[in-house]
Amino acid sequence: NWSTNTFIEDTIAEIRQIVGQEKVLCALSGGVDSSVVAALIHKAVGDQLTCMFVDHGLLRKGEAEGVMETFAEHFKMHVVKIDAKERFLNKLAGVTDPEQKRKIIGNEFIHVFEEESQRFGDHRFLGQGTLYTDIIESGTATAQTIKSHHNVGGLPEEMEMELIEPLNTLFKDEVRLVGEELGLPKEIVWRQPFPGPGLGIRIIGEVTEEKLTIVRESDAILREEIKNAGLDREIWQYFTALPDMRSVGVMGDVRTYAYTIGIRAVTSIDGMTADWARIPYDVLEKISNRIVNEVDHVNRVVYDITSKPPSTIEWE
Ligand code: XMP
Repeated sequence: NWSTNTFIEDTIAEIRQIVGQEKVLCALSGGVDSSVVAALIHKAVGDQLTCMFVDHGLLRKGEAEGVMETFAEHFKMHVVKIDAKERFLNKLAGVTDPEQKRKIIGNEFIHVFEEESQRFGDHRFLGQGTLYTDIIESGTATAQTIKSHHNVGGLPEEMEMELIEPLNTLFKDEVRLVGEELGLPKEIVWRQPFPGPGLGIRIIGEVTEEKLTIVRESDAILREEIKNAGLDREIWQYFTALPDMRSVGVMGDVRTYAYTIGIRAVTSIDGMTADWARIPYDVLEKISNRIVNEVDHVNRVVYDITSKPPSTIEWE
């Protein structure tokens, strides 16, 4: 008979007992899992916890600011923000292959984390948001054989920290309930899935600063309008993607040759299969108008009407 209250109480007691007077490091990603881990450990040992938030420059609009506001300002946790945008962009320059992009982003993430965490050499424990499902999946060949999921599998070998994985008996919906009980903001608790490689795999082909701005701004408009339409809980995942193509358009009486934005919105239970969401035409119209009017270098918006399979949810 599972209850969030007893889970939280038991887990906090257990963390206190394991950690004692030692220090704990946590990597915050802005996702629900790492957020709940940080909040639990903070409740258990307070300032013995340091959170590290790596901004790889591939996050959505407002995401880095939101994480800092929630954890540093609201929860008063000790959060170190690492601005690694340049590093990631430099590594990604000229790279167009999707799997190579994933590998580069995953490896660079580990490098940054290793380098930066040396400054916290006196931290004995590392908190991680491993779920029960991660444990099951990593042992079997599932979706990972189709695309490598870089944030499963974890710790660099050289790091000699002991893992604390307080969520490793939970499923996602249970993690959300715990998050709500701990007072985390709704935007975090109910956040739609966001891939570790971030916007890097929503830009087809080479990732550049300009393309990041285009995909980030168009995605922000999409999210805003989906929310305004009250569809944000119904649609499992929704985002924009930037194909590596331009087409002809006309604005005023001037011919344009600019990028196309693809809207992807799906309903799903677990991401393994998905159906394209039947967003009402008037909502799509508003999104399309706003993107073309407000985002520079875009003159066309298309809606992805394929299910998974045969497509995947992400475009890369
Ligand atoms: P696909 O595109 O394979 O996506 O249909 C299924 C779900 O997994 C997410 N996804 C990823 N998550 N690292 C992640 O952490 C990745 O490399 C990655 N690739 C896809 C995707 O957003 C969707 O929710």
